[in-house]
Amino acid sequence: MNFELPPLPYPKDALEPHVSSRTLDFHYDRHHRGYLEKLRSLVEGTPEAQLELADLVTRSDGAVFESAAQVWNHTFYWNSMTPDGGGEPVGRLGEAVRESFGSFEQFCASFVACAVGHFGSGWIWLTLDPATGALGVESSKDAANPLLTDRVPLLTLDVWEHAYYLDYQNERKRYAESFLADLVNWRFAEENFEKAL
Ligand code: FE2
Repeated sequence: MNFELPPLPYPKDALEPHVSSRTLDFHYDRHHRGYLEKLRSLVEGTPEAQLELADLVTRSDGAVFESAAQVWNHTFYWNSMTPDGGGEPVGRLGEAVRESFGSFEQFCASFVACAVGHFGSGWIWLTLDPATGALGVESSKDAANPLLTDRVPLLTLDVWEHAYYLDYQNERKRYAESFLADLVNWRFAEENFEKAL
């Protein structure tokens, strides 16, 4: 069985006050672990249990896809945040943000607007089109993610209510703004960007 719960990349209280340890208690230990346990129970004893997680996401459907994608998405989300995050991307990614959105401020406005405008549960992504080098902001519904497309995910924000309700109640806009101002891990996005080029 290939599928394990990766450790959080920081202590549970490290993102406070922007994301509380209470949120991470539920979000990591119950939601993320729950998706993993469901996935393991669904694929145990099948050839799918031997696949890499990202391959399983692109080759499965139904409940296996939903569980596998949610495991992958959450790990990507934890890595999209870091204590003392925020600021602006530098180097080639910083240039690509300015070229694709006009300015860093316009990227932030697009990202927050996408989070606010997305109906229901899902994910907000900064993605790269490797064919053109252009960046984009897009949302996906429920468990879907850019692995199903020709674009490369660089960052994600979980906009399922379980991600923010304890800290922000229904204020998804304030949660998205805080993600960009205080938590976003541009180093992780830069690594993903450089790997994809
Ligand atoms: Fe989540």
